Amino acid sequence: MSNKVIEIRNIIRNFPLGQEVVKVLKGIDLDINRGEYVAFMGPSGSGKSTLMNLLGCLDTPTGGSYILNGKDVSKMTDSELAEVRNKEIGFVFQTFNLLPRTTALDNVALPMIYAGYSKADRKKRAEEVLNNVGLGDRMDHKPNQLSGGQRQRVAVGRALVNKPSIILADEPTGNLDSKTSVEIMNLFDEIHAAGNTVILVTHEEDIAEHAHRVIRLRDGIIESDTRKEMVSSE
Ligand SMILES: Nc1ncnc2c1ncn2[C@@H]1O[C@H](COP(=O)(O)OP(=O)(O)O)[C@@H](O)[C@H]1O
Ligand SMILES: [Mg+2]
Repeated sequence: MSNKVIEIRNIIRNFPLGQEVVKVLKGIDLDINRGEYVAFMGPSGSGKSTLMNLLGCLDTPTGGSYILNGKDVSKMTDSELAEVRNKEIGFVFQTFNLLPRTTALDNVALPMIYAGYSKADRKKRAEEVLNNVGLGDRMDHKPNQLSGGQRQRVAVGRALVNKPSIILADEPTGNLDSKTSVEIMNLFDEIHAAGNTVILVTHEEDIAEHAHRVIRLRDGIIESDTRKEMVSSE
């Protein structure tokens, strides 16, 4: 089995804007191996979120190919993509994106409904995941009864619940104070140490320090790609 979880060749993403075309990603080549811990950095507007949305199958490229876990997702239909997203991707957003009137337990269990698990299995697994993210005593709380850091822990739990191939997080600490940011990054470190592939976006150097590989984007291309320590590549 290939060690590559992501294989991207010459990805282009253009957006029509009136009569013009905005060229946001201008030919990205990228391989990410199973078990890597990657941080994307780069100036605002350089294309980080556009690339993350493509990696997370929330969007499809204008050109190029994307092989995720051995499957070519660049030419899939919307319903095929929805299934891949549910099975293969755990996405964490800057603004948490939880259902507001729903408990932590049910927010975490939600992706398992689409995956077809029984109610009993969903409850068991969601409880396990909430314990793992340190919220065993907050399962019945709704988002407005939780702090920002706790909300992001719920969102991380939801991302993990279906045991995805990759965990993607677009500025996951962007709405958190520095102490809470460290706690959330320690959680991502644990998730990575447990064998997961973690890919995040940040504009803070001390957050990027947690990753083992830092990829800098500028103006829609990869400017640099640096592995900081030994990461097995084959
Ligand atoms: N749907 C869209 N339509 C037009 N332009 C877009 C769209 N999405 C993003 N862009 C443009 O693409 C560029 C990169 O955006 P983004 O990927 O959000 O950057 P980053 O996350 O690095 O700050 C920006 O100039 C933005 O205005
Ligand atoms: Mg962004």
